[in-house]
Amino acid sequence: MFNALPDPGTDPILRSALVFQQDPAPHKIDMGIGIYKDDYGHAPVMASVKAAERRLVEEQETKAYLSGAGNAAFNEQVRGLLFPEAEGGKGSDAGARAVTIQTPGGTGALRVAADFLRGQAPGAKVWIPAQSWPNHRHLFGTVGFRLAEYPWFDMAAGRLDFDRAMAAFHSVAPGDVVILHGCCQNPTGADPDAAQWGEIAQVLAQRAALPIVDIAYQGLGDGLAEDARGLATICAALPEVIVASSCSKNFALYRERTGALSFVGETRAAAEKASGHALHLARANYSMPPDHGAAVVAMVLSDPGLRALWSEELAGMRARMGRIRAAFAAGLSEASGKDFGHIAHQKGLFATVPLTAEMVARLRAGPHIHASATGRLNLAGLTAETVAPVAAAIGAELRELTDA
Ligand code: LMR
Repeated sequence: MFNALPDPGTDPILRSALVFQQDPAPHKIDMGIGIYKDDYGHAPVMASVKAAERRLVEEQETKAYLSGAGNAAFNEQVRGLLFPEAEGGKGSDAGARAVTIQTPGGTGALRVAADFLRGQAPGAKVWIPAQSWPNHRHLFGTVGFRLAEYPWFDMAAGRLDFDRAMAAFHSVAPGDVVILHGCCQNPTGADPDAAQWGEIAQVLAQRAALPIVDIAYQGLGDGLAEDARGLATICAALPEVIVASSCSKNFALYRERTGALSFVGETRAAAEKASGHALHLARANYSMPPDHGAAVVAMVLSDPGLRALWSEELAGMRARMGRIRAAFAAGLSEASGKDFGHIAHQKGLFATVPLTAEMVARLRAGPHIHASATGRLNLAGLTAETVAPVAAAIGAELRELTDA
């Protein structure tokens, strides 16, 4: 049977990571897979994480099973991050209506959510932004859902295509599932502003949609609480919301597979019921999530000193992204003769520019700049030294497009 199998295909992001690893050029630049790197081009273990790991090795006395929901302290802390108390005690009550369970990464959260929805709402369509993380389509398609696409990014203008996205939301059927990126949209960096989140929430509520908010980059946009405001707006307007979150980026725990799935119900009891179904499905899948990353996150978030250190480290990552985005936007505008100023104001690790697959291949073969074939650029792969020459090389390609 194995012999007769068709070509399996590969995920474009994982494939590009492999191609980068295999490139022997010493000065190769990685703008592919979504990993935060520092100004030395490294993806180090955060100091707060390292400190918690040391303590964990000393203090942990058992490796006995926990439960399908993983680490209870982690779940409570993550719930607190996703649904921070609004200033002055006012705001959404979503945290009180939410139940969080630990999952193997944000992808694990999405998969459990997809299995849950496929069981409960098999006829629903799943709406995915036209520019999205490619695994969204793969994952929800694999589970068997019908997929639909909504416009998100106006490539020519370099901004959110809000009116067209809203027009598509108006044709969502009751019970359809709508995937939203909570912050730092992957791959465009184009997030809605507060008013736009309000309008999105309103139309999805009118259409009786079920949103899944995928929030994998919380803390890498404007701040931890700031990056959760869109989610709060959605939860304030809708009775039921599913949230997939990840500690891969904001705790740099990528390979530890540390994520969470949260159900926000009309009541907490309803959310408990939904999470119970999810846990039953998880049992038939991976049984229990891996412990290490979640134990580390629980320790960092519950220890005031470690938490302060982590917030500071995260603020440093955010500030570096701001500097790189600004320098890249300026360099790219100059080299291409086109205004890419929007890149400076958009959020997170990524920007998408109108590079063709051929141009991406040329950038890889020539200056050894590795990017996604779709034109997604992970700007965290640049340093103070490389940002100008890389912007110049990419700009020269884009100038050709303008001139053509
Ligand atoms: C990315 O978008 O590059 C990251 O989320 C890594 C991944 O798993 O695809």
